[in-house]
Amino acid sequence: MKYVKKFFPMLVADLTTWVTLYYLWNKGYKRCIPLASLCCLGVSYLYCCLRSRDKISSNYAVVITGCGSGLGYSLALHCQELGATVIAGVLQMSSPGSKRLLREGIFVYPLDITLAASVENFTDFVRTVLTERNSKLRCLINNAAVMVFGEFEWQTYEQLRKQMEVNLLGTMRITKELMPLIRAHFGRIIVVSSHCNTEPIPGVAAYSGTKAAVSAWATAIRVELKKYGVKVVCFVPGSFVGESNILARQSQYFKKMERAMSTEAKTFYGDYFARYSQYFSSMARCGNLDKLEDSGIFETFEGALLDKYPSAVYTNEPWRYTVYHTMFKITPTCLRDRLVERFVQAPPWTKQDVAKSSTQQ
Ligand SMILES: NC(=O)c1ccc[n+]([C@@H]2O[C@H](COP(=O)([O-])OP(=O)(O)OC[C@H]3O[C@@H](n4cnc5c(N)ncnc54)[C@H](OP(=O)(O)O)[C@@H]3O)[C@@H](O)[C@H]2O)c1
Repeated sequence: MKYVKKFFPMLVADLTTWVTLYYLWNKGYKRCIPLASLCCLGVSYLYCCLRSRDKISSNYAVVITGCGSGLGYSLALHCQELGATVIAGVLQMSSPGSKRLLREGIFVYPLDITLAASVENFTDFVRTVLTERNSKLRCLINNAAVMVFGEFEWQTYEQLRKQMEVNLLGTMRITKELMPLIRAHFGRIIVVSSHCNTEPIPGVAAYSGTKAAVSAWATAIRVELKKYGVKVVCFVPGSFVGESNILARQSQYFKKMERAMSTEAKTFYGDYFARYSQYFSSMARCGNLDKLEDSGIFETFEGALLDKYPSAVYTNEPWRYTVYHTMFKITPTCLRDRLVERFVQAPPWTKQDVAKSSTQQ
């Protein structure tokens, strides 16, 4: 199935060409046939070359940030299964995910991408592992991120700053620190992005902003670094909130928002805030030690990691996302915004809420 998917466009192109050749033959253009056949073979060969992938050998090292849970944890296990030397940065060495990675023989080291000292120590560790294992740093996977759900006005400055610091500045910091190694080893940088980058959604306005910013940054450095033999790729992994820790601290975040809220805002939002926070807190999952279920994530990721001529963006998405995101792009703004609300399925701001908030003003 994997190979059918990979070579599907080539199969379609070849089939079309053979049908055309058959048609030409029947019409009596027999002299065109050898030339057309050669062209067909040439195009197929070119396609195979463009789709070819690097091989992972024993000296192929991958650095991944944010490996204590979710996608980073799963990618660390997956890269090890592929045969790479994996160096996993984790925020907390004591987390169940970190302990499991250690047991699996993965190099695990503490890393807070927002702290200069932590990033420097981690880089020293990477250097030591590469020297000891005689390995090359072939890829840095910028995965670590923080997402706070809640309307923009509710989010505290600390929460806004945290998202900017981890998702954007932290990603830049670790990349900058590892650049000498990446350049020396002609490595690759994968930036984990999100659908929120192109279609920002309500409730995660700040997070969407950080993902759009980090994608813009990746697009710019892709061109800057091309001349040094360094490739930069954005990877949009799809949705797996139920299987990662990304919403794990949501109820604490809502408590902080409530504490910081002004009396005027509390009166205005009434029990809408309570309904909203209850709904999104209930979606929180934590401590899952299974690899992510969606095999499409890993298939798409392998392309981002290994394609010799990588695309700028690799996207894995469920059909629901494909349908909604196409509709967001092609519908007029008023309809698009309604569709976005349907897509997010947040608790509604009802007529009763409107009535209550206007009587209290
Ligand atoms: N979940 C989704 O549906 C989804 C969809 C699209 C894109 N993504 C992206 O996928 C990536 C992984 O998300 P996930 O869902 O797997 O979330 P996750 O389970 O929360 O993983 C994020 C990891 O980053 C770590 N981290 C947080 N702050 C850090 C810091 N300052 N320095 C280093 N590491 C830090 C977290 O550690 P702690 O757990 O110890 O805090 C956690 O292990 C993110 O870039 C996210 O934007 C996720």
